[in-house]
Amino acid sequence: MLIGLFLAGCAPAKTQLVKTATIPPGEVDPAVWGKVYPLEYDSFMKQKEGAQGQSKYKGSEPLDKLSEYPYQLVLLDGWGFGIEFNEPRGHVYMLKDQLDIDPSRRKPGGVCLSCKTPYAPQLKEKLGIDYFRLPYDQVHGQIPKNHAELGLSCIDCHEPNTMDLVISRWFLGDALKAMGKDPLTLTRQEKRTLVCAQCHNTYIIPRDKEMKPTGLFLPWQKSQWGHIAIEDIEAVIKSDPANLEWKSNITGIKLGHIRHPEFELYSNGSVHWKAGVACADCHMPYERVGSAKISSHHVESPLKEDMRACTQCHTQSPQWLREQVIYIQDRTNNLATRAGNAAAQAAKAIELANKTTGVDEGLLTEAKALYEKAYYRVEFITAENSLGFHNPEEALRVLGDALYYANRAEMKAREALVKAGMTVPDKFDLELSKYAKRGTKGVLYRPELNKEFTFDGTK
Ligand code: HEC
Ligand code: HEC
Ligand code: HEC
Ligand code: HEC
Repeated sequence: MLIGLFLAGCAPAKTQLVKTATIPPGEVDPAVWGKVYPLEYDSFMKQKEGAQGQSKYKGSEPLDKLSEYPYQLVLLDGWGFGIEFNEPRGHVYMLKDQLDIDPSRRKPGGVCLSCKTPYAPQLKEKLGIDYFRLPYDQVHGQIPKNHAELGLSCIDCHEPNTMDLVISRWFLGDALKAMGKDPLTLTRQEKRTLVCAQCHNTYIIPRDKEMKPTGLFLPWQKSQWGHIAIEDIEAVIKSDPANLEWKSNITGIKLGHIRHPEFELYSNGSVHWKAGVACADCHMPYERVGSAKISSHHVESPLKEDMRACTQCHTQSPQWLREQVIYIQDRTNNLATRAGNAAAQAAKAIELANKTTGVDEGLLTEAKALYEKAYYRVEFITAENSLGFHNPEEALRVLGDALYYANRAEMKAREALVKAGMTVPDKFDLELSKYAKRGTKGVLYRPELNKEFTFDGTK
């Protein structure tokens, strides 16, 4: 593909910092920061705006992911995500959306606040291990009342005095060190990615024998900077039974979980990563406000605002650029749907084998091990929020493997069933309506796709 670019280097020139006063140390309230930096503050508050814009799959509406991708109901049954799982929206809503979601999702405890409130680092300092394990409401109750619904704030990314970018989350610093990367000597361009990687990563909440959380860490111990692959994450999950956070109802398998691995997928050798492009380049493009030039703090899909983020570097038309994104996403979605449905078929085959007397335990164990691999790979790409765009080649590689493992898992389970004398249907009924626990929202219509998603168990 021939790409026209007019950039000199990838780290765009720094904007002028206009500072009229100093922010008090530890100041959490974005409105106080906004008095000194009104342009960034106004831009930041635009994150309240919803709408899908030019997106086909993403955008800023908290759409129900379970009705978009119904096979997830089977894959996630027994886990909070299988009850309610929504698309992300603007950063100002992050704590509110957590308070509003089905309570099963907050069950682990205070640990869930780690990426949802700017008070998380200080609560963890103050409460120690109790921060992770006390009930969610008890830890949330320690946030000042006026900020009980406050989402992202300036202090999550900036040092108040110099306005330098900072890593405020301890677990990212620890994870970088585990890969031999010193969090204290990061370049400015690396920080323009890593401030985002504080939360846009997959993490593990290890549990004790009573399933109470004992901490939170990023499973990067077997990875290298620029190369964090699902295989290495899977190896960390499997290295300790404490990392198995839930048990699948349908298959009876204890599993870990993969959450929004934006940084991992992106940094694993994608074309843009190798060219030195940062998250902020695409999600916080420069903009003119009157005579000033600022970094947009309206963090959103780059498909909004006519691909302005991309045309900072690319000379092609916005329409061409959008087509590239949608083409990549369609291809990823297609393979993800096939892999997801195949994994769901495997889960139902294993369910039946579990209930059948006299099945060959060896074959069933093999089927379960293959299913696990398929599960981690499907979730790695479908929980990631770009639907493949951040790293198209890697997304297809992982999904190809997912499909292969899912098919083999189903074959092994079928073999076990046939050997035990069972008649096995050509296709298993996924019984989706049985797993759609919220019921009330059985149909979702997405006008921009002109498509209805239903829970009726067949579509
Ligand atoms: C080369 C440009 C580019 C880079 C670099 C990039 N992204 Fe994206 N990102 C996109 C595009 C394009 C989408 C898909 C948007 C859509 O479909 O509306 C996207 C989607 C997302 C979404 C979902 C948006 C939504 O509307 O729900 C999140 C979250 C996200 N990116 C975070 C990140 C993070 C974190 C990084 C760095 C680790 C990053 N991105 C790096 C271009 C980029
Ligand atoms: C998610 C991380 C994040 C949050 C939260 C955040 N910023 Fe920024 N901010 C950035 C990044 C990235 C840059 C670009 C820094 C660079 O290129 O060196 C930046 C740059 C700035 C600058 C320098 C001038 C400019 O526009 O480039 C100011 C001033 C600023 N931010 C103010 C704020 C204020 C005020 C808030 C809260 C209302 C805030 N920021 C919240 C990430 C963040
Ligand atoms: C403190 C944690 C945290 C940090 C830091 C953070 N994010 Fe997010 N981000 C979230 C959460 C949580 C959501 C989902 C919020 C919701 O749906 O309520 C989100 C949502 C998003 C979305 C979707 C917005 C939309 O309109 O759909 C994008 C894009 C995004 N983040 C990109 C970034 C980028 C780029 C950075 C760094 C400049 C960053 N985030 C830093 C936690 C964070
Ligand atoms: C900071 C600069 C920068 C930004 C912003 C940027 N790109 Fe790129 N893009 C590059 C560079 C550099 C390459 C690699 C060019 C090459 O090697 O030929 C590239 C490559 C690509 C390619 C070809 C990928 C491939 O596999 O060869 C596509 C498609 C693309 N960009 C789309 C986008 C879209 C869409 C956006 C906005 C969401 C975007 N880019 C934002 C710099 C940028």
